[in-house]
Amino acid sequence: MRAFPLLSRISLSALLLAGLLTGCAQNGLDFSVSDLPPGDPARGAELFAEPPGGAPCAHCHSLDGERGVGPSLAGYGERAAREVGGQNAEEYTFEAILRPSKHIVRGYSNTMPDSYEDTLTRQNIADLIAYLLSQ
Ligand code: HEC
Repeated sequence: MRAFPLLSRISLSALLLAGLLTGCAQNGLDFSVSDLPPGDPARGAELFAEPPGGAPCAHCHSLDGERGVGPSLAGYGERAAREVGGQNAEEYTFEAILRPSKHIVRGYSNTMPDSYEDTLTRQNIADLIAYLLSQ
């Protein structure tokens, strides 16, 4: 009977793990773009230059077409919906900010910080998305 508690502990962990895996959204975030408040593009412009606690977006992204460490975001609003099949422009941008390594823009490397989840509020994210989609 000594094996029983061990076995049940193993199956319990397996169950927990399975629950965790299916319970989480695919991107591991516990909120989605539909949970965001309405965004303010003017505030988004300020955050783009100086996001709280994070690396400034503008260090790596130009808005005038010039290539930087990251792609220029000139004309971004036009192409955002076409980047990843099945994602609309808001969904794509949401993931591009919070889970940058899920989809790497062709011709660039995986150097965008993946820490914005910790430093940006939901309002910040909404404002940034509104701003980027107006570009
Ligand atoms: C250290 C450099 C760096 C910083 C800082 C940075 N990014 Fe990026 N970003 C990148 C790189 C490199 C890519 C392309 C690779 C990828 O897809 O992850 C990228 C991709 C993106 C994309 C997808 C662009 C496209 O053409 O599809 C968006 C949107 C974006 N970043 C927004 C932001 C925002 C908003 C911030 C600030 C909150 C930010 N980035 C900060 C480097 C950076």
